[in-house]
Amino acid sequence: MSFAATAEAVHVRAPGKINVYLGVGDRHEDGYHALATVFQAVSLYEDVIARHADEFTLTVSGVDDTAAVPLDDRNLAMRAAKLLASATDHRGGVALEIRKSVPVAGGMGGGSADAAAALVACDALWGTGLSSARLHELAARLGADVPFALHGGTAVGTGRGDQLNPALARGRFDWVLVTSDRGLSTPAVYQRLDALRAEEGALADDPPLSLDVPIPVLQALRSGDPVLLAAALHNDLQPAALHERPDVADAIEEGIRAGALGGIVSGSGPTVALLCDGPESAQDVQSTLRLSGSDPLHVHGAVPGARIIP
Ligand code: C5P
Repeated sequence: MSFAATAEAVHVRAPGKINVYLGVGDRHEDGYHALATVFQAVSLYEDVIARHADEFTLTVSGVDDTAAVPLDDRNLAMRAAKLLASATDHRGGVALEIRKSVPVAGGMGGGSADAAAALVACDALWGTGLSSARLHELAARLGADVPFALHGGTAVGTGRGDQLNPALARGRFDWVLVTSDRGLSTPAVYQRLDALRAEEGALADDPPLSLDVPIPVLQALRSGDPVLLAAALHNDLQPAALHERPDVADAIEEGIRAGALGGIVSGSGPTVALLCDGPESAQDVQSTLRLSGSDPLHVHGAVPGARIIP
């Protein structure tokens, strides 16, 4: 029996993410859009502690609006634990404790990080010892961003975003995150993008979208140069997110005025990720933005995916 299978509790930490590039293609019949994206895992973490229990239970701390996080089967961590149990014929349940730091419905994959952490934690607690390929497969069934939360680092995602290939990224990138009190629904933002494109389509005869990550994005990551990466940041969901939340555009502009090299809506938003020229510059940007009343966070990437904390 492995060490972890004899433990009373297993603690796993999984990171939130920023999409430094997000290209969205057509919507498929299953409701998902084809993506070409580059994820970067950043140093803002979800902690999940799994303990032996007869039933499946869940507690959540670290959020102001606890009503925003469901504690039943709508919760992705709960679904992850139950999926692993049924895939491995595990009898019994688990008591999951989630300590959140990633903004809820913020476009940073917090719920996906919870699911990835719950898979790793239950696998260790129950001693099921699944291979990483099998964990990845279960993760992809839970949501498009869950495999990346397992993987971490910097990676290109294709398909629904769940088919991953590591991307070379040198050094560290410093980001200042401007969070929002109110979240955005990911399906609603994708729907808004479809509607905006349908309106544009009536006016423009655009060639089909090329769904490749542009070479300059990959070169910028490889060079480790934040100036190059700032010039290559792009998110196809940004106009849709800004349509839902016009105030978010101000946060990007303010960030750049405060000294950030570039800014982007993270995923489906509304969190804004401002790329800075190193840790000191990020602290300056953070201090300047604090003067105007926001409470930004300074994080860095890339960091590893879901890991057991000894
Ligand atoms: O996979 P996940 O549950 O994170 O996706 C949430 C929603 O985001 C999906 O139900 C879908 O509406 C939208 N989505 C999409 N295309 C993707 C990923 C997500 O349309 N590739």
